[in-house]
Amino acid sequence: MKGIILAAGKGTRLYPITKPICKPLLPLYDKPLLYYPLAVLMQAGIREILVIVPPDDQFPFEKLLGDGHSLGLSLSYREQKVQRGIADAFLVGEEFIGSDSVCLVLGDNVFYSPTLSAQLEQAGRSRSGGTVFGLPVEDPRPFGVVEFDQSGRAISIEEKPQNPKSNFIVPGLYFYDNQVVGIARHLTPSARGELEITSVNNAYLERGELSVIPLDPDTVWFDAGNADSLLQAGCAIREIQRKSGCAVACPEQIAFEQGWIGREQLRAIGESLRMTHYGQYLLSL
Ligand code: G1P
Repeated sequence: MKGIILAAGKGTRLYPITKPICKPLLPLYDKPLLYYPLAVLMQAGIREILVIVPPDDQFPFEKLLGDGHSLGLSLSYREQKVQRGIADAFLVGEEFIGSDSVCLVLGDNVFYSPTLSAQLEQAGRSRSGGTVFGLPVEDPRPFGVVEFDQSGRAISIEEKPQNPKSNFIVPGLYFYDNQVVGIARHLTPSARGELEITSVNNAYLERGELSVIPLDPDTVWFDAGNADSLLQAGCAIREIQRKSGCAVACPEQIAFEQGWIGREQLRAIGESLRMTHYGQYLLSL
């Protein structure tokens, strides 16, 4: 399975901060926001990852992560020339996906739960159809919202509804088989002019091939797309790390635990970051 991080948004909800710097490179507490979606893919066991970046902005991403070999990953980058919506990621990434299945994660989505790895591995093992997740939020209106029938089966997903049919939303993490490329190719833009990920999910639902898995009730999730949610997410991550003594979304630790890098490599990265808590943490593992 391949992985895609969609990190190409203009981040207009964070202007003027994101005028000179892309949103996924902003700090979320002690690490770049990008590390959180990256860690999600790594926890799902995915090592071949495409980062879709805004036009002319590839360099700072490469400066941060290079080709991924120091984390035992194969990372590549591709620009999204025109912002055509989330589902466009499968067209920008068509060549990269090839004949594989793919997991897409949005560059501003932050997930944490002690059981997340197990849920992700399970989703990653399914090789046919699509798998998305569901979680309850107070105000579902800015998101993709799931409608259930009386037996609790998902029957439709609506993008940003005025009158949501439930408070269960689909966060920005999607697992699909290879049909997704064909589905994306045949989408028509929505009223807001975008190829909607919700249309992809509905196409799978209509085929009877979409699983909507409720995330563990303890899951902490943020769409860190505006100043308030970025700050809230940062405070929540700081608190979780302080209480548990464990780093959230630490790619070096995940790579080490997955057996993708050895102890010497972990130490070398830790040494190079020794002046920070982050580096000290790596050295303590
Ligand atoms: C996007 C998707 C929406 C999803 C959300 C999760 O919304 O369109 O279905 O629930 O991400 O973050 P957007 O970030 O484009 O408003």
